[in-house]
Amino acid sequence: MAQLQPKLIIHGGAGSSLKGKGGADAVRQSLYAVIAAVYPLLEAGGSAKEAVVRGCQLLEDDPRFNAGTGSVIQSDGQIRMSAALMDGTHQRFSGVINTMRVKNPIDLAAFLQESDDRVLSDVGAAELVRALQIPPYDPLTELRLQEWIQARQNNFAPGAAGVVAEQELAGRGTIGVVALDSAGRLAAGTSTGGKGFERIGRVSDAAMPAGTYATVHAAISCTGIGEDIIDECFAARVVVRVTDGMSLHAAFEKSFREAGDRHRDFGAIGIDATGAIAWGKTSDVLLAAYYDGTQIGDTLDLPPGLISSSR
Ligand code: GLY
Repeated sequence: MAQLQPKLIIHGGAGSSLKGKGGADAVRQSLYAVIAAVYPLLEAGGSAKEAVVRGCQLLEDDPRFNAGTGSVIQSDGQIRMSAALMDGTHQRFSGVINTMRVKNPIDLAAFLQESDDRVLSDVGAAELVRALQIPPYDPLTELRLQEWIQARQNNFAPGAAGVVAEQELAGRGTIGVVALDSAGRLAAGTSTGGKGFERIGRVSDAAMPAGTYATVHAAISCTGIGEDIIDECFAARVVVRVTDGMSLHAAFEKSFREAGDRHRDFGAIGIDATGAIAWGKTSDVLLAAYYDGTQIGDTLDLPPGLISSSR
């Protein structure tokens, strides 16, 4: 089989402001560093699934983003994280929901790819961490702690000044990676600390097919308000449209128009089997970057009204 040019797109959240993340340049640097570390794996013949896992690990390790280290804190002062991996070739989804005290939730999702029980929640995920002898890890950062303390003083009312401004973006944050490898295989992964300040037991879209989905035709990862993504069943919706013959760009365009009409607030990235790369948003800002083998680009400066595009 002829070798394809691999494609890669990643995201670090969606929302209404870049304020608390140090501005567009700092975010761009973080995203481009991940592209620079992951794309060579694809060039060397690595699988889309391996590239997605590596990309998610790196984004989880960057405290700038709301996943792994730097995850936001929930209403009870705890951090609970969710992650999913979907291998398009086998159309196989795996994930963990509300896992705690682990450095890279995506590693658990990757392990579960080969398991009979492929989605585990809190207690089950904790048991898996123990069984795999993964050392306990505290993903809390000083910034997230200060955000939480300040919001708590304000009885969790949105819009408090100072560091809480960052909550605007962090609360819709997620990280995600979508890849097409040189053998034509697609995969998608998503990881998140959730919305922040949410009720105990709230379940994110990230570890549902609404937020992460892939088949042999297309692979999608979403970011933004999880409830909105779930209501649109967005990742699966786009993939089904591509499977039924729509181009990736047209599927993004139509699906985001529908989401916009319903006043949803999120973004998404995707790649199809032809190598088309697409991104879209109803949020003002989508923090995504991509590399098609020739050109690196990002979505950081897209105007708020622009809902979808591709290359
Ligand atoms: N999209 C991340 C969340 O709502 O949990």
